[in-house]
Amino acid sequence: MDILVVGGGGREHAVIKALSASPKIDKIYCAPGNGGISKLAECFPVKATDIDGQVELAEKLKPDFVFVTPDDPLVMGLVDRLNEKGFRTFGPRANAAILEGSKVFSKSLMKKYGIPTAAYETFTDAEKAIEYIKAQNSYPAVIKCDGLALGKGVIIAQNEQEAVEAVNSMLIGGKFGKSGSEIVIEEFMTGPEVTVLAFTDGKTVKPMVSSMDHKRAFDNDEGLNTGGMGTIAPNPLYTKDKADECMKNIFIPTIEAMRKEGRPFKGCLYFGLMLTPEGAKVVEYNCRFGDPEAQVVLPLLKTDLVDIIEAIDEERLDKLDVQWSDGACACVVMASGGYPEKYPTGLPISGFNADGQLADGSAYVYHAGTKLEGETFLTAGGRVLGVTATAPTLKEALDKSYKAVGEISFDNAHFRRDIGKRALNG
Ligand code: AMP
Ligand code: GLY
Repeated sequence: MDILVVGGGGREHAVIKALSASPKIDKIYCAPGNGGISKLAECFPVKATDIDGQVELAEKLKPDFVFVTPDDPLVMGLVDRLNEKGFRTFGPRANAAILEGSKVFSKSLMKKYGIPTAAYETFTDAEKAIEYIKAQNSYPAVIKCDGLALGKGVIIAQNEQEAVEAVNSMLIGGKFGKSGSEIVIEEFMTGPEVTVLAFTDGKTVKPMVSSMDHKRAFDNDEGLNTGGMGTIAPNPLYTKDKADECMKNIFIPTIEAMRKEGRPFKGCLYFGLMLTPEGAKVVEYNCRFGDPEAQVVLPLLKTDLVDIIEAIDEERLDKLDVQWSDGACACVVMASGGYPEKYPTGLPISGFNADGQLADGSAYVYHAGTKLEGETFLTAGGRVLGVTATAPTLKEALDKSYKAVGEISFDNAHFRRDIGKRALNG
């Protein structure tokens, strides 16, 4: 099988690494890819959001399968376009990707089908939203823009003033453009967060090993929200009982709800969950693998990923036994100094062999934002690398990852020193 992978971050590197382990794969293409990915796949400089460009590339390369990884092209309908041209694909069509593309949609779906989530109201009018906030008079207040916003469209307002500013910035100031022309105001929930990615063919849902993201920029969950500064899997807080509860109350009802709505979801569905005192609730759905969750979940997958994507395409996931390793995996993200705000790019990275890996192979380095210039890997994004190790225990996996991080450097590299700490200490 020749396969084209759309995207170019650490998550796509993890997908490609897993695909490259399959005996069924002949050739991997990636667009746009990055420096590290170029060692496993032939890369083409077409942006993931350039839908026409991606379709054209697929028509030129004629792959047997196209794996659409990031949210924007999924929400924009790349899978639909590729299917029209006869390509087999991995990833939901636009009418199912809306689960991530519109919070107003996903919240109303959960309300309609009784899927546990924070109570909420939606608004397009700033005055009405502010009236509601004042009447609720309950802080923190959670204000979310409807559409995609690079993970930045959620504001946790600590008081009335912050809440009013958030509402005005979205509904009047146009801070998130069209994505913020409608907002959701919801109840603040408490409890630890768990990510569960799940394979689904629209009928059957097979949850993957659970994981824990670390979203804030600095240690002890301080600083700004980022795309994710590190992950561990499995998440020890997600016990067998919690998994059974989520399967019954959240995973199966979501897949069934989407099917009933005429929007069968095929691909990887991301459940962002909070284990609240009243039980597990949905914080958000994403229509794709998490980044950097994929980097710790896929290395624990024992089943051939190609068998899984084919089973999903052919809607026979119920017949496939998806198996996982017993061990643990940890990923420490090395980011550019200044991320998630302003940061430099083009800095040389040292510590790598010619493949952009550590010579001793003690950890695997997923490249998130790198480019290859001659023989040198340069930084090319906010999140640069995801340094990842598997081991029988989480403690050993973390030790291996951090040791490897110590061997890699670029100017002003920033990484958290407490990835997995909460998971280890309970
Ligand atoms: P989201 O982009 O919806 O995942 O939100 C980003 C982060 O904001 C989540 O990972 C949570 O930490 C936090 N968050 C979102 N919604 C809520 C909520 N209703 N209550 C408490 N925290 C929330
Ligand atoms: N790591 C969070 C996300 O992928 O949305």
